[in-house]
Parts: sequence; C-alpha cells; structure tokens
Amino acid sequence: MFLEVTELSVRYAQAPKAAVDAVSLGLAAGDIGVLIGPSGCGKTTLLRAIAGLEKVAAGQICLGGQTVSSAAGHTPPEARRIGMVFQDYALFPHLDVGRNVAFGLQGLKAAERAARVAEVLKLVGLEGAERLHPHQLSGGQQQRVALARALAPQPQLLLLDEPFSNLDVELRERLAHELRAILKAAGATALFVTHDQLEAFAIGDVIGVMHEGRLHQWEDAYSLYHRPATRFVADFIGHGVFTPATLHEVDGQVVVDTPVGRLSDVTECPLPGAFEGGQCDVLLRADDIVHDDDAPVKAEIIRKAFRGSEFLYTLRLASGHQVMAHVPSHHDHTLGEWIGIRAQVDHVVTFQRACSPKQRELCQLPCEHAGQCAAETGRFMPAKAASASDPA
Ligand SMILES: Nc1ncnc2c1ncn2[C@@H]1O[C@H](COP(=O)(O)OP(=O)(O)OP(=O)(O)O)[C@@H](O)[C@H]1O
Ligand SMILES: [Mg+2]
Repeated sequence: MFLEVTELSVRYAQAPKAAVDAVSLGLAAGDIGVLIGPSGCGKTTLLRAIAGLEKVAAGQICLGGQTVSSAAGHTPPEARRIGMVFQDYALFPHLDVGRNVAFGLQGLKAAERAARVAEVLKLVGLEGAERLHPHQLSGGQQQRVALARALAPQPQLLLLDEPFSNLDVELRERLAHELRAILKAAGATALFVTHDQLEAFAIGDVIGVMHEGRLHQWEDAYSLYHRPATRFVADFIGHGVFTPATLHEVDGQVVVDTPVGRLSDVTECPLPGAFEGGQCDVLLRADDIVHDDDAPVKAEIIRKAFRGSEFLYTLRLASGHQVMAHVPSHHDHTLGEWIGIRAQVDHVVTFQRACSPKQRELCQLPCEHAGQCAAETGRFMPAKAASASDPA
C-alpha cells in the first residue's frame, strides 16, 4: 500500500477523548480513498495528521514505504510532498490564475513552470485561463484552479477536505465526477473528505465511514451498502431500519422471521446458533421492501418524501414496527393510507439484538456508545450474557 495508516491515534491537548482513535487504513498508489462521517468524527484531524500538521499520540503513518509519523518521529509537512485542497480554497486574489497555479513551482525554470501550469490547467478544463483573475471566475472554476495548484508540483499524495462544500448542489455533483476523471488522468493518489455519501460513491475507489474517531469500515461502496460491518455504517449509508428477527432452520435451510413475514432463500445468513435463541436484528433497506397491492402484509404510510423517480415511504405495520420502502413515484399514496408490502431480500445483514433500556441498566460492561447501544461490535452485553460468554 502506498499510504499505510496503522492504529493511529491523535489527541488534542485537554480533550477527554482521542479525535482519531486507533484508525488503520491502506491506500494503493493511484487509488482515491474517501472518508465520510458525521461532523466532529475526526475526518479533518486524520487528514491533518497525514499531512504532518498534527502529531500522533500512537500508531504510525507510512508514505511510499517511509514512516513519516509515529510516536518516535515526525517528518515535517513540507518534506512529505503532499498537496492539499481545503474547503476555503483561498486563491491569492491579487495574482492571476497562472501565478496562483505556479505558486508551488518555484524550483522550476520559467519556461518549465509555464509549461507545467498550462498542462495542469488543461487537465482541470481551464486551458488558456492563465491571465484571468480569481474574481473573473465562477466558484466551480476557482475550485478547479485550487485543484490545479495542488496538482502542479506533482505531490505524491493529494488530500482534499470538503473542497466542494461551498458550491451549489448541481455544481458539486458535476465536479465530483470531473474530479475523479482529473485525478485518474493525473495518476494521483488521493484521500478526499466529504459529508455527502453520493459524492463519496461518485469519487471513491475505497470509502471509509468514521464515527467518534473510529473507522468502522474501509471498503468499496458496494460492500458498505450491502455488507455494513457495524450498525452505525448500516444506519449512515442508505435508508433502512433494523427490525427484530428470529433465525430458524427449516429443512436444512435458514429462514428469517421478521415483522414483514418470513424470508427464505437468503444468502449470507448466519446459522441460528450465532445468536441466543436465534434472535437478532436484521437490516431491512428501503429497496428490500416492495409495494404490492396483493401482499397479505399491510402497512400505514406515516411519512413520505418525494425523490423524483420514487417516493421514500416510512411505513408502520399493525405490529407497530416500522419499515421504509422506495416506491416508484407514480404510486402517489396519501399519508395514513394502508398499502400492501412484501420483503424481497436476497441477502440478510444481521446484528446482535439491541439492548433494551432495561438491559442497558443491568449491563455491567462499560458502554462506549450510550444511545447507540449494543452490537456495534457486540461490546455491550447484558450482565447475564456477559458472564456466560464474554471473558471481558
Ligand atoms: N484544534 C483543536 N483542538 C481541540 N479539539 C479539536 C481541534 N480540532 C478538532 N477538535 C475536536 O476533534 C474532534 C474531531 O474534529 P474534526 O475537525 O477532525 O472533525 P470532522 O470529522 O472533520 O468534522 P466536520 O465534518 O465538522 O468537519 C471534534 O470533537 C473536534 O471538536
Ligand atoms: Mg472537517
């Protein structure tokens, strides 16, 4: 791996918790990694540590086989050959585009510098814009100049921290696709931070979901969506609900009883013995629930959101359980209406059953995720189960 982060922790002075907590990830040369997660989860801190702007409390960062950060040593930022693009891309307003882009090219002769500036401006789609000033450019064009400026010195790694966040949505989407093409054309290895999962999916070869300083999963978009490693990832990516389910073995096959009916012919399902009494929670995605007038299971529409080609309905079953469903938008039902639904699930994602408030009260293990209790990793267990099966 070209970038190798191992068990990295970063701690700000006086902060009670590490801002980045035992994070490990690897990025191959030429790949684009994306970090997503809620505000304050440590994305910027991780980027700053990789850039050398923050010292590390534990773990290490290797770039191209060289250790650049560890408890034992710290290579200064200017010796890392890392390019950065931030949210406030701050071009120098008094310098024209050519001079802005040439900023990191002081070591080159004038003719070489001009050639490199022309080359990267072409790459970002702004060929011949050297003489324009930043105020003559749109937000998107200015952002592309900032990208050209970061790419010009041929950094070995490019770090981008929410570079599109002050652009309007339409422009962001276009730039996200353009950015991927530009980075690939430049052969750049890059780590990109965003809040926006569609942007992450559009740009990343590998995507990491962070929460409270920890990296929950570092995989391709398909795996994050279909095989979320933790409840947090399942919740953060896409739309869906966790619903109580029981696994049984019937005729040598595992079936899953859920409030929406029995799921059979499911792949990737653990054996019932994986959970006490086969009882677990399953993730039902909005695209696992199909609207079908003939289905015996009915549910009441309690919320609806128009998304162009489809509605995202939140539905309540007679049992009180809720599910979500993507339904083609020509099925325009009203709130309070009961519609037929069935589950169409080909692989199930199971989690340890979440603890009830009562169980939480009885639990003797320290809970690191109060309110998000249970089963992030199975660390949180009722006292009885803990003493029976958990040596901790
Ligand atoms: N300079 C600092 N000193 C002390 N604490 C800080 C500092 N910078 C960030 N933090 C804290 O570290 C944690 C992680 O912050 P960070 O900026 O890395 O989050 P983020 O994921 O980039 O959030 P956002 O999406 O809002 O940009 C937060 O709890 C934040 O309050
Ligand atoms: Mg940030």
